[in-house]
Amino acid sequence: MSEHQTLVEARGVGKMYGSVKALDDVSVTVNAGEVTCVLGDNGAGKSTLIKILAGVHQHDFGHLLIGGEEVRLSSPRDALDRGIATVYQDLAVVPLMSVWRNFFLGSEPRKSIGPLKIIDSRGARDTARKALAELGINLRNVEQPVGTLSGGERQCVAIARAVHFGAKVLILDEPTAALGVKQAGIVLRQVAAARDRGLGVVLITHNPHHAYPVGDRFLLLKRGAALGNYEKADISLEELTRQMAGGAELEALEHELRGVEG
Ligand SMILES: Nc1ncnc2c1ncn2[C@@H]1O[C@H](COP(=O)(O)OP(=O)(O)OP(=O)(O)O)[C@@H](O)[C@H]1O
Ligand SMILES: [Mg+2]
Repeated sequence: MSEHQTLVEARGVGKMYGSVKALDDVSVTVNAGEVTCVLGDNGAGKSTLIKILAGVHQHDFGHLLIGGEEVRLSSPRDALDRGIATVYQDLAVVPLMSVWRNFFLGSEPRKSIGPLKIIDSRGARDTARKALAELGINLRNVEQPVGTLSGGERQCVAIARAVHFGAKVLILDEPTAALGVKQAGIVLRQVAAARDRGLGVVLITHNPHHAYPVGDRFLLLKRGAALGNYEKADISLEELTRQMAGGAELEALEHELRGVEG
């Protein structure tokens, strides 16, 4: 898979919150046309890591490279200008606003009528509908409020928006966390669609069953440190699950729960 171009690379990055080291010596690679999964328990440092890639926080140690060039991101806008788009779990959508307005949120196409520039709402609706359909999301009506969509569909609108506006790297912080099996499937299909269009995707999740089918590489974090950094060929779903659950700890728990039976 090394023929894929490296878009973003963190080398040994670390982050302090006051005197607390939330992230220590973590490296991760994001390649075009691949999905990098970041896994770990609550407080492992997943959000901290992606906030460094997204320009929300600056790293205190290590190196961040974008397109092979060392950078220090000054803001989320800076990251976005370099093609790194992030969809946060709370999504920044406006529930009462229509799907197409949410799709554009401030970047609506405009047209001139005499001296006035007004939103080209018909063009915008068509563009939003097409962009969503290209990713396989066929909504009955882009006029409906986003609040009437399912959680999975809302994530999809946010992903389609990032793809449409030219993101090269798409970071998704726990997009499947609050979703049932079917809804999570809808979102994972979007992750695969973005990957197939050549984006580098960073997928954060607690769930190895969500990560494994779409992931090309897996970074496991525990208490701010990297527990493992694997390419898919080097790790099975069983092993990934075992490591996530703390390996030996899980085996002991299984043994205990199995009780006398067997
Ligand atoms: N702004 C902050 N100020 C101080 N400490 C923070 C801050 N953000 C995170 N932390 C701490 O840093 C550590 C890593 O947090 P982080 O949010 O990156 O974990 P996470 O893996 O995303 O967890 P979760 O699965 O719960 O989202 C935690 O101990 C957390 O309490
Ligand atoms: Mg988090």
